[in-house]
Amino acid sequence: MQSFLKELVEKHRPFTREGKLADYIPQLAKQNPSALGVSVRTCEGGVYSAGDCPIEFTLQSISKVITLILALMDRGEEEVFDHVGMEPTGNPFNSIYDLEVNSPGKPLNPMINAGALVVSSLIEGSTVEERLERILTLVRDMAENPDIGVDEAVYHSERVTGYRNRSMAYFLKEFGIVDDVESTLELYFKHCSISVTCDDLARMGLCLARYGEDEKGRQVVPRPIARLVKTFMVTCGMYNASGEFAIKVGIPAKSGVSGGILASVPERMGIGVFGPALDEKGNSHAGVRLLKDLSREWNLSIF
Ligand code: DON
Repeated sequence: MQSFLKELVEKHRPFTREGKLADYIPQLAKQNPSALGVSVRTCEGGVYSAGDCPIEFTLQSISKVITLILALMDRGEEEVFDHVGMEPTGNPFNSIYDLEVNSPGKPLNPMINAGALVVSSLIEGSTVEERLERILTLVRDMAENPDIGVDEAVYHSERVTGYRNRSMAYFLKEFGIVDDVESTLELYFKHCSISVTCDDLARMGLCLARYGEDEKGRQVVPRPIARLVKTFMVTCGMYNASGEFAIKVGIPAKSGVSGGILASVPERMGIGVFGPALDEKGNSHAGVRLLKDLSREWNLSIF
């Protein structure tokens, strides 16, 4: 297994040259474009990794899975889905179009930026710090790593350049869907900047693969919520490439513009991938290819 992962990284590293770093968040443009790494943790206790696994990167949109879990734990399904829909979109993750034209005031799903802003606004706590701490606690529990924190440089970089997210948050306020715009944006930028490694992602994926149970047997995420978020990962996790990813890879997964992918194969394994050179839809270019080969070789498709 270990040597196969090594081969995969070697085979796919050249494809990193075809991708592009996210530069609309200036700090992300400082990442190494040729980095590529993969970590796997299986339900049987197997731990495997290859490539640039020690590198830390920020969760970005992968944090949308975590905030959805927490909002569902805090508010329940009915209240959350009063505010945000369940349908995939054919438009990019940061599109304002759907919000205005197709679903005024109710973002299509929690995995696109508009939907994630609404979800962030639903997380309980009296201050941004308290709410962030609750998100961090869940990430640390799922990853079984108490040292996980926020990358302040990435946070500040997005805070001063996040014009489109700011616009969407104000648009949502007009419809009464988001109340306190500034604290919602603050929390959103912070949870996007939570810093992890491939192995942290593999453990988080494993927790979801075990229906919310960590390796010590603690139920960190309620079982029905673990099932629900994996369904969103299949239908919306790779944005407007989710259909193609489901066909070619067939694993619940969530990407982020820093180049991370969190993948979870139910009852089998968690996988963390990092490759910051992105394709035109904002997913790790080499990372998606690597997962495709991994899925084919190990027969991981859930379909
Ligand atoms: O809001 C943003 O644009 C970023 N903080 C996160 C976007 C993202 O990760 C999209 N993923 N592919």
